[in-house]
Amino acid sequence: MGFSLTGPSLTLRPPQPDDAAALLELASDSEVTRWFSWGPYTEIEQPLAYIERCAGQRERGEQLDLLIIDHELGPAGITGLSEFNFRDRRCIVGTWLGADFWGTHVNRESKAMVAHLGFELLGMNRIGSYSNPQNERSTSALEAVGYSREGVLRQWHRHGARYLDVNIFGMLREEWLASEQAEIEVVSEGTPPSAFLQAS
Ligand SMILES: CC(C)(COP(=O)(O)OP(=O)(O)OC[C@H]1O[C@@H](n2cnc3c(N)ncnc32)[C@H](O)[C@@H]1OP(=O)(O)O)[C@@H](O)C(=O)NCCC(=O)NCCS
Repeated sequence: MGFSLTGPSLTLRPPQPDDAAALLELASDSEVTRWFSWGPYTEIEQPLAYIERCAGQRERGEQLDLLIIDHELGPAGITGLSEFNFRDRRCIVGTWLGADFWGTHVNRESKAMVAHLGFELLGMNRIGSYSNPQNERSTSALEAVGYSREGVLRQWHRHGARYLDVNIFGMLREEWLASEQAEIEVVSEGTPPSAFLQAS
């Protein structure tokens, strides 16, 4: 059985090849991918290759990307956990949304769902996140849902030949438990891929 998470207005599940057309449309906007090392998408082969890569990363316990589906409007973007360190029980969250979904409930609710996944289902103690220091929208969006900005990691991300600084954010398990994010009801169906169930 597949794995999914359902919140008040969204469902998250691993992307499937059938989702490629929706991802192509959402990420063909250069504003959406402006801060990333990839994109914008121009042809269906690109989201198809991404979806195939996700399947391998899930099997190996490297990265757990999930398609965000709005119950009324359909696919909205991607959120996922990566950079797992099971010994220290930490990982990183990253999100992108189609521009029509910016400034809506989707970022807040999907972050709450992925926090439930990380803290409750996968036993993490810390979820971190990055933003480009010039990406004020992403920086504010992380702070608005309770992530603390902890500093700047210099030349952390490579985009082609350029090395970029990032803001590093974190939310600790105890902070999540006390936050409004933990109050958003999330129901899971199926079991997360076994490679991610390693925290001890
Ligand atoms: C990052 C992203 C997921 C955030 O979702 P969102 O729906 O846009 O976020 P929200 O609207 O909830 O929050 C954005 C906040 O930034 C504020 N904001 C918007 N534009 C801003 C700007 N240019 N400067 C400063 N703040 C800005 C908003 O007022 C809001 O703050 P508030 O919650 O205090 O009102 C979404 O914008 C996105 O997908 N961007 C493209 C991909 C990306 O950059 N991902 C992050 C990579 S680190």
